[in-house]
Amino acid sequence: MGKLDGKVAVVTGAASGIGEATARLFHAEGAAVVLSDIQDERGAGLAAELGERAAYRRADVTSEDDLAALADFAAARFGALDIMFNNAGAQGVSAPIAETSVEGFDLTVDLLLRSVFLGMKHAARVMSPRGAGSIVSTASVAGLRTGHAPHIYSACKAAVIHLTHSVAMELAEQGIRVNCVCPGFIATGIFGNAFGLPPEASRALAPLMAPMQVNAQPLRHAGQPADIAQAVLWLASDDARFVTGHALVVDGGLIAGRSWTEYQRLRESLAQGIQMAMGQASAAAPGA
Ligand SMILES: NC(=O)c1ccc[n+]([C@@H]2O[C@H](COP(=O)([O-])OP(=O)(O)OC[C@H]3O[C@@H](n4cnc5c(N)ncnc54)[C@H](O)[C@@H]3O)[C@@H](O)[C@H]2O)c1
Repeated sequence: MGKLDGKVAVVTGAASGIGEATARLFHAEGAAVVLSDIQDERGAGLAAELGERAAYRRADVTSEDDLAALADFAAARFGALDIMFNNAGAQGVSAPIAETSVEGFDLTVDLLLRSVFLGMKHAARVMSPRGAGSIVSTASVAGLRTGHAPHIYSACKAAVIHLTHSVAMELAEQGIRVNCVCPGFIATGIFGNAFGLPPEASRALAPLMAPMQVNAQPLRHAGQPADIAQAVLWLASDDARFVTGHALVVDGGLIAGRSWTEYQRLRESLAQGIQMAMGQASAAAPGA
């Protein structure tokens, strides 16, 4: 028996990375899945590969019309909308603050924040009459700590976390849960894409990032899309039926604090400093 038997899910950004892994897992756990993206060929190919209980529907997440039609499509095609995963994204504008253009700011906010608002809005519209549903969005550790991503990306992800908290309070009273996941460093096409590589080349680059990733956080594991998909599955499923307004960090310990090794180094240099200071103090006051 699958964890999502009989459920209908929409996944945005499903043609690659975290979205693809989550769509595959949702489907394997018994859900009917609408995969959505702007990479039509790849998205449609994945839906065809999954076969029964899967469909592809193009939606540019910066368009309200597209997202409204996507939520309606899921309900019309599979009879309901139980799970909405607002996941599509990219790095957006990346520059020092004095050099960040207003156009870049607007495009980034449209892609990373306005899109999540629209996804929540239209999921709620379709879910509310049934008094049930689960909305999950992809935020980031960059929404909780600085120094992990560009300014506007980080601000948008922080806003996604707060929007999640706020909307969860409203929709809880209608039986709809609203949560988000905060991934750490995950091997996907987003990094190649940020350096201007085309989608195919960006995806091919992702597995080569493992050596860089292994030491990026306390857990010596290269974070994979499947690691995030498992967390999203839990939030989306009835296993998390008492969980709402939560931002689930899945980062191998990246933002939990200073690593143990780093702390030991700090402690050693502190001990050396103290010994040196004691030596200087006793040399300055012999016989004291
Ligand atoms: N990879 C990481 O380390 C990481 C960490 C934290 C958060 N995230 C977030 O995870 C989410 C998924 O990213 P990923 O890492 O899987 O990257 P990815 O590049 O592999 O996947 C992103 C997908 O979103 C799609 N997309 C981009 N713009 C779109 C638009 N306007 N409309 C519809 N689809 C669009 C792309 O075509 C692509 O298929 C993003 O929101 C990203 O910010 C990623």
